[in-house]
Amino acid sequence: MFRQIEKLLFLLPPEVSHNLAITSLKTLGAMPGPIKPILGAKKKVMGLDFQNCLGLAAGFDKDAQAVEGLARLGFGFIEVGTVTPRPQPGNSKPRLFRYPDHEAVINRMGFNNLGMDAMVKKLNGVRERDKLMGTIVGVNIGKNKDTPIEKAVEDYVLGIERFNGLADYLTLNISSPNTPGLRSMQTGDQLEQMLDTAKNAQSRQKKYVPLVVKVAPDLNKESAEYMCEKITEYELDGVITTNTTLDRPSNLGQNEEGGLSGLPLFQKSLEILKLFRSNLHPNCPIVGVGGISNEEKAKSFLNNGAHLIQVYTGFVYKGTKMVHNLSRI
Ligand SMILES: Cc1cc2nc3c(=O)[nH]c(=O)nc-3n(C[C@H](O)[C@H](O)[C@H](O)COP(=O)(O)O)c2cc1C
Repeated sequence: MFRQIEKLLFLLPPEVSHNLAITSLKTLGAMPGPIKPILGAKKKVMGLDFQNCLGLAAGFDKDAQAVEGLARLGFGFIEVGTVTPRPQPGNSKPRLFRYPDHEAVINRMGFNNLGMDAMVKKLNGVRERDKLMGTIVGVNIGKNKDTPIEKAVEDYVLGIERFNGLADYLTLNISSPNTPGLRSMQTGDQLEQMLDTAKNAQSRQKKYVPLVVKVAPDLNKESAEYMCEKITEYELDGVITTNTTLDRPSNLGQNEEGGLSGLPLFQKSLEILKLFRSNLHPNCPIVGVGGISNEEKAKSFLNNGAHLIQVYTGFVYKGTKMVHNLSRI
């Protein structure tokens, strides 16, 4: 049945089809009974018990509306968000574009989301219903578009405070290309201030919730090395490599502004993963993401030092079958 629904969704405009997928997944999640991840290679990462190494990357369930339905597909972990303190509409439509010949997507969504209050409610519901039997839930946090970059850190601190006790881990998203100025937080004093303040906020909370940082694939060697130095110095709990890229393959055809994901991102993400792996302490967890769509690509990430992997675009093109295959490796 899933395959038929998946085929049907491809006939619709991308964002319409995405919203329909979320609605179907809500229904799937509302069905009675406990929800278990597919049992793969169990791993303890960041002090958390993962039943398999496959996660759903941020941006698919921006408002944590379908956590239980997504968990029912078998993912070991689901990362919801990016969520910002206040609700915001994101960029004007159309803002999501498919490139089926390239198994790629370009998006310039711009953190459309219902805000932290709404997500807190959703996650409280998930925790109260208590149907998840081992699926890890991460929350990816960001800044509002109209928060000036000098005050951006405050938005992230709010996220660290609001999701304490609700998120199993938190991701500082400082690498989306669709929020003006966001990526500058990966550099210089801005990065130091972000990591220092975020780690302080983390230590003030009731519960220790691992804090990871998500990085762009468009970093040069020096910037990546600088990030690794600071991630080590401030003792971040992990890194996610990578977000979408601003690069374009020469044969893509109709170009759109935004971040490119899927197959054309694979090699670039893998190179960044290797760069981070060789500059971070071997025990520092890395979650690898970017263009993973089959077992071979998943293994490339895992064999090059990723503790866990995530998918987004591959899941859009390959669907639930891929979740079954990759969660078992
Ligand atoms: C439509 C779309 C929306 C996304 N939104 C977010 C987001 O809100 N926050 C984030 O950290 N990453 C976001 N991403 C990036 C993905 O989480 C992932 O890092 C990237 O797409 C690379 O993985 P993939 O090639 O498997 O898609 C988004 C990606 C897509 C395609």
